[in-house]
Amino acid sequence: MTKPHLLIFESWDEWDIVPMQEAYTLVPMPQSGKVADLPPDTIPQITAMAFRGHSTLDAEIIDALPNLRMIANYGVGYDTIDVAHATAKGIKVSNTPDVLTEDVADLAVGMVIAQSRGMVGASDWIRSGNWAQDGAFRLQRKVSGKRVGIVGLGRIGRAVAERLAPFDCDLHYFARAPKDTPGWTHHDDIADLAKAVDILVICLSGGSETAGIISRQVIEALGPEGLLVNASRGTTVDEAALLDALESGALGAAALDVFLNEPHIDPRFMASDNVLLQPHQSSGTIETRKVMGELQRENLAAFFAGKPLVTPVN
Ligand code: 8YV
Repeated sequence: MTKPHLLIFESWDEWDIVPMQEAYTLVPMPQSGKVADLPPDTIPQITAMAFRGHSTLDAEIIDALPNLRMIANYGVGYDTIDVAHATAKGIKVSNTPDVLTEDVADLAVGMVIAQSRGMVGASDWIRSGNWAQDGAFRLQRKVSGKRVGIVGLGRIGRAVAERLAPFDCDLHYFARAPKDTPGWTHHDDIADLAKAVDILVICLSGGSETAGIISRQVIEALGPEGLLVNASRGTTVDEAALLDALESGALGAAALDVFLNEPHIDPRFMASDNVLLQPHQSSGTIETRKVMGELQRENLAAFFAGKPLVTPVN
C-alpha cells in the first residue's frame, strides 16, 4: 500500500526525516514556494502537510491543494498560517504547545540577565585585549529585585515570571483581565505597565491582533533606563519606533530573539551597541526540537487514523 503523501516545508533534522519517511511519501515544497512547481500528478495526492518556519501559508497555497485536509505546524506560533481560511475549508490545524515553553522562557530570562549584565560586551572586552590593557569593564545593571513587566501571561509569560520570582523581582503583567497569580500586579494598559517597570518582556502571540502593540508610546514609557525583551514575534513591536528609541537613548536597551523580515533583519540593529541580538532560537535546543517533531507527528498520525488531534488549533 502506498504511504500517504505528506508535503514538507524547509529542512528537517535526521530525527524527524527518518520517521516521516517510514510513514509517508514525502513531497518537499519547492524552493519557489509555489504548489504549481510540484509534479502535477502529485498535487491531488497531498492530504496533509508538515509545516515549519515563518513563511506565509496563505489561502493561495491552501487552495492550490484540492485534497488538503490537515496542516501540522512545527511550533506553538501559527501567525503565518491562514487558519481562518483553513477552518472555513474544513482543514484541521495543529501546533506544538507546552513542549517548548521551558526553553523559550529560559532564553527570555537569559536575555534579561545577559543584556542587563552586558555579558556579550564583557566577553568581547577580554577577547579584544581591553581588559589587560584598559582594566575593568564598565559597570552594568542589577537584575535581582528589579520591577519586571510581562506582556501576555500565557504559558510562556507565566513561565518567565515564575523564573524571575526567585530573583525577588517585583512582577507585573498585562492581560485584558486579572489572572490567578501569587500577587503579581495586573495592568490592563501596556503603557501603564511599561511606566511601572524597569524590564518589559513580551510573551504575546503574533498576528494582526497584536501587531505593533508595543508602540512608540509604550517604548518611551519604558524609558532611558528601561530594557525591552522580545521572545514572541517581531510583529508585536513597532520596529521603527524601537530603532529610533535605541539610537536616541529614549530606550535604554533591548534584547531580541525575533524581528520583522527574519532572517534579513534591519541593519540598524547591527549598528546599535545597546541591543542583544538572537537568531530566533528560543526553542532551539536538541531536546526541545526532538519533542516538537514527535508531537507534530503524533498529530499527523491521529489525523490519518481518523482520531481527534493531540494539540488542535481549530
Ligand atoms: C519555531 C517558534 O517554530 O514555536 C514557535 O512559535 O517560533 C519556534 O519554535 C521554530 O523556530 C521552528 O521553525
